[in-house]
Amino acid sequence: MDKLDIRKGMTDDKIDVAVNKALDIMTLKEKVATMSGNNFYLLLLKDHKFGVRAYPGGGVKRLNIPPFLFTDGPKGVSMPGSTCFPVPMARGASWDILLEEKIGEVIGKEARAQGANLFGGVCINLLRHPAWGRAQETFGEDPFHIGEFGAAVIRGVQKHNVMATAKHYAANSIEYSRFKVNVQISERTLREVYLPHFKRCIEDGCATVMSAYNKVRGEYCGHNSYLLRDILKGEWEFDGFVHSDWMNGLRDTIKGISGGLDVEMPRAKHYGRKLEKAVRLGKVPLNLIDDSVRRILRTTLKFTTKKDTQNYDSGVIGCNDHVLLSREVAEKSMVLLKNQNKLLPFNSDEIGTLAVLGPLIDKKNTGDHGSSHVRQKNIITHLQGIKKRVGNKVKVIHNEGKDIDTAQQIAQSVDSVVLIVGYTSKDEGEYIPHISKGLGDRTILGLKEDDIKLINAVAKVNKKCVVVLVGGSAILMEEWKEKVPSILMAWYSGMEGGNALANILFGKVNPSGKLPFTIPKDQAHLPYFKIDIDEIEYGYYHGYTLMEKEDIEPAFPFGFGLSYTEYKYENIRVESTEEKIIVSVDVSNIGAIAGEEIVQLYVGFENSSVDRPIKLLRGFKRVALKPKETKTVSIDVWKKDFAWYNPENNAWEVENITYTIYIGASSNKKDLLTKKLTFN
Ligand code: BGC
Repeated sequence: MDKLDIRKGMTDDKIDVAVNKALDIMTLKEKVATMSGNNFYLLLLKDHKFGVRAYPGGGVKRLNIPPFLFTDGPKGVSMPGSTCFPVPMARGASWDILLEEKIGEVIGKEARAQGANLFGGVCINLLRHPAWGRAQETFGEDPFHIGEFGAAVIRGVQKHNVMATAKHYAANSIEYSRFKVNVQISERTLREVYLPHFKRCIEDGCATVMSAYNKVRGEYCGHNSYLLRDILKGEWEFDGFVHSDWMNGLRDTIKGISGGLDVEMPRAKHYGRKLEKAVRLGKVPLNLIDDSVRRILRTTLKFTTKKDTQNYDSGVIGCNDHVLLSREVAEKSMVLLKNQNKLLPFNSDEIGTLAVLGPLIDKKNTGDHGSSHVRQKNIITHLQGIKKRVGNKVKVIHNEGKDIDTAQQIAQSVDSVVLIVGYTSKDEGEYIPHISKGLGDRTILGLKEDDIKLINAVAKVNKKCVVVLVGGSAILMEEWKEKVPSILMAWYSGMEGGNALANILFGKVNPSGKLPFTIPKDQAHLPYFKIDIDEIEYGYYHGYTLMEKEDIEPAFPFGFGLSYTEYKYENIRVESTEEKIIVSVDVSNIGAIAGEEIVQLYVGFENSSVDRPIKLLRGFKRVALKPKETKTVSIDVWKKDFAWYNPENNAWEVENITYTIYIGASSNKKDLLTKKLTFN
């Protein structure tokens, strides 16, 4: 009998022995069969719905080698009943790596409880422009920050023996054109801006990678041997497997296998029989097949044979602890952008009547309904959360604001107003041909006309008006921002978003989130973006690096966010060792309430011989401070992270120049302490 000795607790060496033996005894047909998803359409027909189960691929039944079982994310496991977290962009605003790892753990546990062992939901594409439809699925605009978040969620997921997928590799930042756009990009931009976060995740052991739909330098990412073979598998020594994106992520049998794509998802269209034939005709060398099969079997076995330290029964799916974590994340991610005269927090003892107005007040609005949709019914809307928090103490009058006059009359008659406006899955999300109603990408960068009219009408008659924004990336707000005293970015905040919002509005929680992107004053300050486009050049600068280089003042800078208390930064110190620098600063809470501050560290380049950004984020830490408490916060930066990519030498090089170390509360210069440091 050919069955292999596959058992729990196998060492890596034993796995390698088993995989070698498998490769010896497998037929070509069997080998090729592991290189695609299987039964996808059959299962879809059976369920009449996408995403309600884990989809299989790989595996060799005859040899006892289990399949991989794919489920989507990233705001939770997409299968029914799973905990629905705030979208990654919100989580990016928490700047809380430990919390992100915990989210990863919940995702890992809930995936296991639903039979999945491959989580395809770590989206780490860089936010180049706020119109990108899937902006909400990633963590922000900065490669260092995205890399830390991607690595954290992957660590958490993989702790529970679920393979994680970093996607979409690479340069995938326009939705409607994702199936055709050719991204032209210089080597420096690719290496320094669009790839570092993928590299970071691979270094942290990410098991699998999903190739993107778009082209990079004329070649589809699923066929792109420079990205897949040379960089990912070659330079970065990635030993897991690469699977394609799902709708034509692979378009040609020979180009795919030569390019380095190991698995075609969700079914064998160009692989399967076509691949087998190509091998038999001598068009594809067998060693390429063996390399892919080795990667698939070894990775699957590594994860499926590990001994579990706990049970993954169905009781963990959407359980109370997980729901509470979702609330904590929502609370830590909301960003207070403006709070004149300390309008917030509201005091429920002082407010008699509160109007809750706007089209989104009672919507179960957790973000996109594409592949990232989490099928969760128990969603606390903003209105529900507010009503529950104030109980009988405050009279709440609510209205969707369809009739502006009525809304204005209500606003006039109450003590304070909460206006909830922004987007839903109809305005931004994934573009799925023949299914999506919109284009995926946003067609407006500011609020809708009706929302702006509502804000203007309400702000005119009630000075105690808070605008709560819902969305997945930057919302331009120059037309109305000066008219209201308080603005809070609430994101798509998951199943507990309503409770989290109420806790912030009424001061049970002190807001601490900070923007993971820049909000410009004008769209002219953004890089070129077009929804329907065949080719685009991705330049070296975007977000804060672009605005700083061009000396443009943003509406709200990267890393910005207010609190109900105030923090003071003093005494920057920089120590240097052979490999790293350690930057310390004393941070004090000088206000009257406890809070959490996000300390950010940037590095600037003084006399570089090449063009470099004014500064780049190279570290951050969240710190909890009681009133009047001071803590020393120390952040380590590896000296290798000062490097630039020299395309002439194909090497990362650290210059012997003077660097400016910045540490403080946001990327805004006035929020930062500085110290010079010279490498020689
Ligand atoms: C999306 C992926 C997703 C896959 C499976 C694709 O269209 O781009 O992010 O994982 O579908 O649902």
